[in-house]
Amino acid sequence: MAFMFLRESIRAYREQDPAARSDLEVLLCYPGLHALIWHRAAHAMWRRRLYLFARMFSHLGRFLTGIEIHPGARIGRRLVIDHGMAVVIGETAEIGDDVYLYHQVTLGGTTLAHGKRHPTIGNNVIIGAGAKVLGAITVGDNARIGSNAVVLEPVPPGTTVVGIPARPVERKPARDPALKPFDAYGSPPEGVLDPLLRDIESLRAELAEFEARVARTVDSRANAGGQRVGDPP
Ligand SMILES: CC(C)(COP(=O)(O)OP(=O)(O)OC[C@H]1O[C@@H](n2cnc3c(N)ncnc32)[C@H](O)[C@@H]1OP(=O)(O)O)[C@@H](O)C(=O)NCCC(=O)NCCS
Repeated sequence: MAFMFLRESIRAYREQDPAARSDLEVLLCYPGLHALIWHRAAHAMWRRRLYLFARMFSHLGRFLTGIEIHPGARIGRRLVIDHGMAVVIGETAEIGDDVYLYHQVTLGGTTLAHGKRHPTIGNNVIIGAGAKVLGAITVGDNARIGSNAVVLEPVPPGTTVVGIPARPVERKPARDPALKPFDAYGSPPEGVLDPLLRDIESLRAELAEFEARVARTVDSRANAGGQRVGDPP
């Protein structure tokens, strides 16, 4: 079990980070991986109600890595924490599989009340450097959160949000199609995404483009000579 965790985590780092040259380098030099190892131990103690030991373990992990993960946080498989320094993951946060976090990301709470108060992050989500995701909100699968965004509302699956407070943005076509987009740093590699999901995403993009074209046509007709919408051309 522990061996499988290590093997697939190291593979995730190597697939997602072009700077990673060997498995040994990832094992020895990636604080994000070290933080996950500390968290696994702390979380196991937390589940056995050894709360103080769990907190002490997690504190040691924070001291050594600069990454603070509360032992109560539930983390899925193949999480990559790139650079890592100053990441904070709160007690009731939940993270799905294949998530990619950069440094200074906070998954924080906004209330002192006990119970669920931290975000739930879906699968294949990328959270850019310095982004804060606050409250018991859900970030859907395949969503992307821009660096330094402050996310206070739920993020639907497949959506990119940026800014303070974070709002959805349309993705612009690449200026130079020969250049690889940001995807290399965190989006699921080709072939990993469920084919059905990929089809749905592409249908959704086509629909959005079609709606935009219809809206532009309606606008230009309405502007041309005060024609009413629905009038014959
Ligand atoms: C959010 C992100 C994933 C969007 O990438 P994308 O889908 O390729 O989006 P685009 O570059 O086409 O930008 C779409 C719009 O969002 C804006 N935008 C992108 N990232 C933004 C950010 N972090 N904050 C504010 N606005 C941002 C762009 O200016 C553009 O706006 P416009 O249409 O008004 O011109 C990416 O910009 C990002 O922030 N990635 C995190 C990278 C990171 O943290 N790297 C750390 C490396 S150490």
